[in-house]
Amino acid sequence: NFVIDVKNVGAEIQPEMYGVFFEDINFGADGGLYAELIKNRSFEFEHPFLGWTPFGDVKVQQESPCFDKNPNYVRFNEKGLRTGTGLENKGFTGIGFHQYDEYLFSFYARSISNDENKFKVELLNAGNAAIGTSEILVQGNAWKKYTCTIKAKETEAKGKIRFILETAGTVDVDHISLFPKETWKGRKNGLRKDLAQALYDLHPGVLRFPGGCIVEGNTLKTRYQWKNSVGPAENRPLNINRWFYTFKYHFFPDYYQSYGLGFFEYFLLSEDIGAEPLPVLSCGLACQYESKECVAVDSLDSYIQDAVDLIEFANGKVSTKWGKVRAEMGHPEPFNLKMIAIGNEQWGDVYVERLEKFVKVIREKHPEIKIVGGSGPSSDGKQFEYLWPKMKELKVDLVDEHYYKNPEWFYKNAKRYDTYDRKGPKVFAGEYAAHDTDKANNLRAALAEAAFMTGLERNADVVHMATYAPLFAHVDAWQWRPDMIWFDNLTSVCTPNYYVQKMYAKNAGTNVLSIKSKDENITGQDSLYASAVLDHENSEIIVKVVNISSVNHEINIKLDGLKKSFEDKEVKITCLHSNNPDSQNTLAAPLAIVPGNYSISSEKNSFKLSVTGNAFYVCRLKI
Ligand code: AHR
Repeated sequence: NFVIDVKNVGAEIQPEMYGVFFEDINFGADGGLYAELIKNRSFEFEHPFLGWTPFGDVKVQQESPCFDKNPNYVRFNEKGLRTGTGLENKGFTGIGFHQYDEYLFSFYARSISNDENKFKVELLNAGNAAIGTSEILVQGNAWKKYTCTIKAKETEAKGKIRFILETAGTVDVDHISLFPKETWKGRKNGLRKDLAQALYDLHPGVLRFPGGCIVEGNTLKTRYQWKNSVGPAENRPLNINRWFYTFKYHFFPDYYQSYGLGFFEYFLLSEDIGAEPLPVLSCGLACQYESKECVAVDSLDSYIQDAVDLIEFANGKVSTKWGKVRAEMGHPEPFNLKMIAIGNEQWGDVYVERLEKFVKVIREKHPEIKIVGGSGPSSDGKQFEYLWPKMKELKVDLVDEHYYKNPEWFYKNAKRYDTYDRKGPKVFAGEYAAHDTDKANNLRAALAEAAFMTGLERNADVVHMATYAPLFAHVDAWQWRPDMIWFDNLTSVCTPNYYVQKMYAKNAGTNVLSIKSKDENITGQDSLYASAVLDHENSEIIVKVVNISSVNHEINIKLDGLKKSFEDKEVKITCLHSNNPDSQNTLAAPLAIVPGNYSISSEKNSFKLSVTGNAFYVCRLKI
């Protein structure tokens, strides 16, 4: 018997409780969510032709550039060479084309010789045959934007584009871009439809961005600077991605951040998916795994100003400097930023001393903004013990905890927050994922997370937000796994871990209820875990039950303390299950493990749930 106490309505569950954490890792932004299909579109990588194959006479130039912050451009010289003069680009890992879809090709150009010069652009399949083509005339010697639409005749996962100067002449070209004509919500400079839709469907309460370690950078110079990520996309100076190498052995020398998906787009995405934005900013320390580089405590002014200016960018009136930038980008209304995180996985005194400076200024200037501090690189160990009391002293509002652990750790930690201090800062579980032996996104890992999350839910008075990590990974270019959503150039697949997050986020409820067996919380007895909440607005009770073993159980779930008793009511059930806990969803079989729905009828003030092995249940019942 599991007994739910309906009379004693417990703590409020924050609307932000279950969210997502976005980082440009595993080609999650450029080459992923950001719909741009051309790599190194501005020729600004350290090697300007990285990603490009030039042929004929194409040279990099900088004199009177089109974009001052991205000064490189290329000069095409066609003097009747047998090869022709042009460029090819094969995107991030090839370009994906969908048959009959249209693609928006654009570039900036000026004619150096002739009044008119003709270009041809071709979409190529893997065998180098043109599957779409268009011609464009470049006219005049001033920089101008040229655009055309090209329809793909075939579907191709590993395509490329070829851009050729057709007339004998000299032309300067910059920012060569190709987007699917249809982006999510039809936005310019937009997002890949299937990936953004998957985020929307998840129903996240919060979006933490832009990372992770990329916030810190391998060096301070390469940290994420949000001011470089706003304004016209063409003039955002790009940055090497901290994940261009992983653990000193896995190199992706072509991994840069174009910042085409920048802070404005993150705020917009938050708004579009109904999530509270949570930006993370550098605290003046480079990634501590990589370097000891730090800004002197008394030289942090510009870093702190970045935080203050970001609040103005998000919330300020259009008459303010940064509010004006937001308005000019198309969003005069404020984004309603409510919180900001300072530092990612930092540790030691160096972090505390710097965070203190930020807290002082942000509290003075923006007492309405919640501040998120961190508890170091791992949720246990020395730094964690050291930093939590410091966070209390600094009176930050939330403390970000990270845990990448094996499934057993997650089961054991279902009780983790039962004993946390209720008087200090709240918990933000900002990065977590169960890492099974082969780091697979399998059902076992997903159930471990679901079991653990019953503990987050039960302790919603102290745990205010939680975000699985990382979010996206390209199957042909990843640095880290497991990840919530995998994709290639054409399609994507949601993992069982995604469905666990979705089942929680869509059934978050409004208040905690106690659910007990023999007066104890259900935290692993017979390998079962459970939590219960009230959805106040819909007068529903929501029960979550996780079975991490392969043994079936019949459970009687009883509601105690009801004002009005009930009988024969519909109980709506969603269940994620497979007999094999090793099972996974793949691009080839994306629906191997997806939640299924069915209903049962209640008895008097109770219902019977047949719990199969390796399963996660969400039950909803109107009272
Ligand atoms: O999520 C991947 C990385 O894990 C994040 O960048 C970092 O915060 C953590 O170490």
